[in-house]
Amino acid sequence: MSIDRRPRLHFTPPAGWLNDPNGLIYHAGEYHLFYQHHPYSLVWGPMHWGHAVSRDLVHWEHLPIALAPDELGAIFSGSAVIDRHNTAGFGAGALITIFTHHQEARQVQSLAYSSDDGRSWTKYAGNPVLAPPDAPLNFRDPRVFWYGAAHDGHWVMALAVDQEIWLYTSPDLKRWTKASAFGAGYGEHAGVWECPELLSLAIDGGPERCWVLIVSVQHGAPAGGSGTQYFVGAFDGATFTCADPPGTVRWADYGADFYAAQAWNAAPGERTLWLAWMNNWEYARETPARKWRGMISAPREVSLTRTGERLTLVQRLAPELTANWPISATLRDQALGEGGYAVPGGPTLLITATFSVASATAQQVGLRVGVGGAAATSVTYAIEDATLTVDRTWAGAAFSAIAPRQTAPLAAADGLIRLEILVDTGSIEVFAADGSVTLTSQIFPEPASTGVEVFAVGGAARLVELKIRTPEG
Ligand code: FRU
Repeated sequence: MSIDRRPRLHFTPPAGWLNDPNGLIYHAGEYHLFYQHHPYSLVWGPMHWGHAVSRDLVHWEHLPIALAPDELGAIFSGSAVIDRHNTAGFGAGALITIFTHHQEARQVQSLAYSSDDGRSWTKYAGNPVLAPPDAPLNFRDPRVFWYGAAHDGHWVMALAVDQEIWLYTSPDLKRWTKASAFGAGYGEHAGVWECPELLSLAIDGGPERCWVLIVSVQHGAPAGGSGTQYFVGAFDGATFTCADPPGTVRWADYGADFYAAQAWNAAPGERTLWLAWMNNWEYARETPARKWRGMISAPREVSLTRTGERLTLVQRLAPELTANWPISATLRDQALGEGGYAVPGGPTLLITATFSVASATAQQVGLRVGVGGAAATSVTYAIEDATLTVDRTWAGAAFSAIAPRQTAPLAAADGLIRLEILVDTGSIEVFAADGSVTLTSQIFPEPASTGVEVFAVGGAARLVELKIRTPEG
């Protein structure tokens, strides 16, 4: 394994440690990406906000560190807004970040502002703007957005407080009033709740929208360790009401490595675009690394789809990531028997594959990527169980006993299983059922392990079509 190989599409820090994406905001033609960062160490420590910008979501320019620890503490996760009407008094159109100041036994919320397109940041002299009522230790990760009409709305902050999400409102980002709390009896509670995200998402590409509250939880995710759950419901500017009965748990991703997802505020068009830290607190400090550690997922378009009464979260790779990638291999109507069928691969790939399982005698169909010698990562559909499993046991460097196999429920649609898989150095992201099932996983193969195979196990099945796209150059 050659440590420190950079992925082609995925964001990594110039050096040191990275965790959550922070402060995602689109402004003046640039997607800003801030991130939890320890520039001087490969492990988590006094957090800074690293900073990068991109015009196309593919090429990222590293900028100087935006926020460094100060006398109020380290700079934990948070968000960014554009203050179009100068509610806070830092200037009309100022960029404002809202973040947690963290000290050993105290977490408070603070502001910083920029009037030069995010190139320099001034911390507000009146920090903190929000302290906990009676010192809960976990009081962090403010996610702020404007709710309502331009001149007749208010700021909303979703904040993670132990195992609840508290919602606050404010006219000016400085004075905050608690409006409601959500969480008791809902969702997974095996760990502390972190990094809330509250989004109004489009349903099936139409004009109708519905609110979704996203909550990361440090333990209890389906693959083991940390993961990202979501709640579909209603939001009236003050209170979130979950549409599902209490006890329902829904996961945004079934892989081991999708955490602290955040969407861009003010993204162009009607799109909601988000990304996440591609890691898991269970082993984040142990992944192979020498110069930098931590990766951000590919940006994804997020929406909802309706089946009967039920709304399900849908994620699709942002199309511009792979728009210019030529097709490098195609297979059509291929009978699959025992053993694998090799296709030319590469270190960075977009694979689309459709399997017909309606009249298959096989028990399993799937693909192996990162094939080289005995190494491979498999993506396997178990027909009878109706499950999709990413198995990284033999991917290459083993870094953890946690979650070698990651499984999601997946029903065939009209007898077909359609998969879209993005493989990049260090990761695999699997999208199934048109994006309503995803599995995101880190892998650390040898550089030469770049092969692809399609296979069936226990009988015959048909591959309807397989296409592989690779970046040019
Ligand atoms: C989530 C988290 C946040 C916190 C940050 C600290 O991964 O634990 O709750 O603000 O990381 O780096």
